[in-house]
Amino acid sequence: MRFLIITAGFIILAVSGLSEGAGKRISENGNKHNFSYSNISVNYRALPTNDDPRLPQSSQICVFCHTPHHASAEGPLWNRKATTKTFKHYSSTTLSIDDPALRSASEYGQPNGSSRLCLSCHDGVTALGAVFSTPFTMTPQPIHFTDSKGNTGPGVTLAYETFSSHHPVSFKYSSDVVNILQNTFGKNYFYPPLNNVKTDKLERMQCTTCHDPHQDKSNVPSPTTPFWAAGTYDDICGACHNVVPSPNPYPWK
Ligand code: HEC
Ligand code: HEC
Ligand code: HEC
Ligand code: HEC
Repeated sequence: MRFLIITAGFIILAVSGLSEGAGKRISENGNKHNFSYSNISVNYRALPTNDDPRLPQSSQICVFCHTPHHASAEGPLWNRKATTKTFKHYSSTTLSIDDPALRSASEYGQPNGSSRLCLSCHDGVTALGAVFSTPFTMTPQPIHFTDSKGNTGPGVTLAYETFSSHHPVSFKYSSDVVNILQNTFGKNYFYPPLNNVKTDKLERMQCTTCHDPHQDKSNVPSPTTPFWAAGTYDDICGACHNVVPSPNPYPWK
């Protein structure tokens, strides 16, 4: 009974939360996080197997990340095995959150919080189908995938990792950190972030500060801003950076 209530609440929340915005919703064809077999226009999708004649994974959408049963505590009703990779994070000669004077306040290091959920696929080594619970099967089985290069099976992974050379995440963006950035390093940041731009409950910047895993809510045409959280680049970047770093604002590109 409790499962049913949790699941019903979860789905209502999801439907209301996912209905606004500019890009394809996760339930629509073309959304790259819709891995159902029928979503033929994307590079990676589930592959039906003969293991189970009902082929649930060919029509479901949420199962690749969420499950009402046997979920992991790592995220909301989370259905994925955790990444075990050790990551190198973004660094540069001008970055201060990695400086000894700031590192204990910023806690910049390995990915944590919800960024680890993204990296359970975006680490380039964990199988896309490595889930805990597959509906209608007695034992959890990895879901078979297929990619645009013709690789198939339970071991298909993303071809590359998105962490080491991307905008820093999983560091604290707290008033302490911003004070030190300002007073010790002479850098100009807004605190708290403007435009309702989100850090997590522990005030850490995460992948979800810039990306919404369900839908691209940008008002800039896709695919320039894949799974963009909302608004324009400036709305999000300018929420913290009083001056976006120059000469190259996107050194991770
Ligand atoms: C590719 C992975 C992925 C798929 C597929 C996916 N989600 Fe999520 N979902 C996430 C992640 C990651 C979070 C955690 C976001 C966070 O903590 O900020 C999340 C969070 C949620 C939440 C909590 C509220 C929120 O938005 O943070 C709800 C509700 C939800 N998902 C519903 C769904 C439903 C319903 C589906 C199927 C239509 C679905 N999701 C498919 C990755 C996914
Ligand atoms: C179930 C595995 C899975 C999870 C979990 C997941 N992704 Fe993805 N994501 C993918 C795949 C597969 C693609 C398609 C990549 C491609 O076509 O090259 C993708 C595409 C993307 C893209 C668009 C890339 C492009 O080339 O257009 C972004 C941005 C992205 N994911 C961000 C995230 C973020 C942020 C999270 C966590 C909040 C997340 N993803 C969680 C598997 C996942
Ligand atoms: C500061 C905002 C920001 C954060 C935080 C962020 N991204 Fe991105 N991401 C972007 C922008 C901007 C682009 C588009 C860049 C481009 O067009 O090359 C992008 C592109 C991507 C892409 C597609 C191109 C690529 O580089 O592979 C993926 C996948 C992706 N992000 C995943 C993630 C994941 C996973 C995280 C967390 C580890 C994350 N992003 C954190 C802003 C961000
Ligand atoms: C939640 C606040 C926040 C948001 C939103 C944000 N940033 Fe950042 N960004 C930071 C902080 C803090 C640093 C680390 C600054 C330091 O250590 O000197 C940083 C670092 C950077 C760096 C590396 C600077 C260097 O010296 O190597 C670049 C470039 C950058 N951000 C650009 C962007 C862009 C472009 C966006 C939007 C796509 C964005 N940021 C969104 C807070 C944010």
